[in-house]
Amino acid sequence: MAGQEITRDKLAELLNEDLAREYQAIIAYVVYSQVLKGAEYMNIADQLVEHAHQELEHALTLSRQIDYLGKMPTVTPKPVKVSDKARDMLRFDLNNENETIINYRDRIRQCEALGEFAMAEQIREILVQEQDHQIDLATALGEDVPNLGGRTAPRAVRAKKKKR
Ligand SMILES: [Fe+2]
Ligand SMILES: [Fe+2]
Repeated sequence: MAGQEITRDKLAELLNEDLAREYQAIIAYVVYSQVLKGAEYMNIADQLVEHAHQELEHALTLSRQIDYLGKMPTVTPKPVKVSDKARDMLRFDLNNENETIINYRDRIRQCEALGEFAMAEQIREILVQEQDHQIDLATALGEDVPNLGGRTAPRAVRAKKKKR
C-alpha cells in the first residue's frame, strides 16, 4: 500500500481480507489442535486450542469494525490446508501467522492515516496475540521466530512472560 491513498472503503475491504484470514485461523486451529498426535506435540496442541479461542475474538473485533465502517463483514474464510503430518500443519499455521502479522502492521498504519486511532489500538492488541501465536509455532517447530522486519521476542523473554 506504500504511496497509495487509503480510504475508509479500502480499509473496510482490507479488514474483510483480515477477517477471512481469522476464519481460516479458527478452522485450522480447531482441527489441528484435535488431530495433532504424539507426546512431543502435546504442549503445542493445548496452545492451539487457546489460539482458536483468541482467533474467534479477533474475528468478532474485526466484524464490529467493518460494520462500523458501513460494510458487510465477509462470511468466507481463506482456504485451509490439510495434512496428516504434524509438522506440515504447524508449518501452515506459522506461514499464515506470518502473513497475518505483516497485514496487521499495515492495517495499524492505515487506521492511523485515517484518524481511526481507537481502531488502530484494537488491531495493535490483536497483533500482540498473533506474535505470541507465531512464537508458539516457531518454538514447536524448533525454529527461530521469523524476522518480519519488526519486533521479535527472544524465547527467554516469552518464557518469563507466559505462565502455564
Ligand atoms: Fe487472529
Ligand atoms: Fe493467530
